[in-house]
Amino acid sequence: NSKRKLIYEGKAKILYEGPEPGTLIQYFKDDATAFNGEKKAQLEGKGVINNRISEFVMTRLNQIGITNHFIKRLNLREQLIREVEIVPLEVVVRNVAAGSIAKRLGLEEGTPLPRSIIEFYYKKDELNDPMVSEEHITAFNWATTQEMDEMLATAIRVNDFLCGMFSAVGITLVDFKIEFGRIYENDFSRVILADEISPDSCRLWDTATGEKLDKDRFRRDMGNVIESYTEVARRLGIMKDMP
Ligand code: C5P
Repeated sequence: NSKRKLIYEGKAKILYEGPEPGTLIQYFKDDATAFNGEKKAQLEGKGVINNRISEFVMTRLNQIGITNHFIKRLNLREQLIREVEIVPLEVVVRNVAAGSIAKRLGLEEGTPLPRSIIEFYYKKDELNDPMVSEEHITAFNWATTQEMDEMLATAIRVNDFLCGMFSAVGITLVDFKIEFGRIYENDFSRVILADEISPDSCRLWDTATGEKLDKDRFRRDMGNVIESYTEVARRLGIMKDMP
């Protein structure tokens, strides 16, 4: 394991060279970070849970035709993925006001939005991932107009699917962040869903009680972070084999 070539190390995940060309191994760490890395902790078992939840979600999305980088889970902390060229954008979809939109627009947390809202942020730690518009994105060539259309359409489909999936188990999908990557096929390139979908990248509220079951528990020092992530996995019917 240790002699594998490291491709990239991020805050919560590591990418290693994969067994075949065009593949990578995505390793889920226990590290939790917030506020662009200012707040850090180790949450024992987080990597294992997020590996499982992301596997579950990505598999379901693949099944309904939302192509993504996930190939298969290899072990507790690792999954085999397709190598992509990451688009330097974070695509956020919101259904209910929370977090930065609540602050920016003076909305009370928990206010349902009049419709789902999609936002783009430029992935640049030094700049704290500023929000950008389609104008910025196409002018600076971070993505083409066609890629923007594909990402918007996919983001809406992912939101529809995830809203249903979570509401079936009593969880409200408040908002989430996804990332996309380019794959090259002959002379063509297209964008597919990449990265992870887990309680690290979603806001998930218990529909009945409003209890937060996501990374805000870490950001806001609410405690029971792992317990909440485990509860999300339990409701989705995964990790039945885990203690
Ligand atoms: O902080 P904000 O309200 O903009 O976050 C919106 C959603 O995107 C939240 O679910 C948050 O967990 C996710 N997000 C993320 N990574 C970031 C920023 C936000 O996963 N760097």
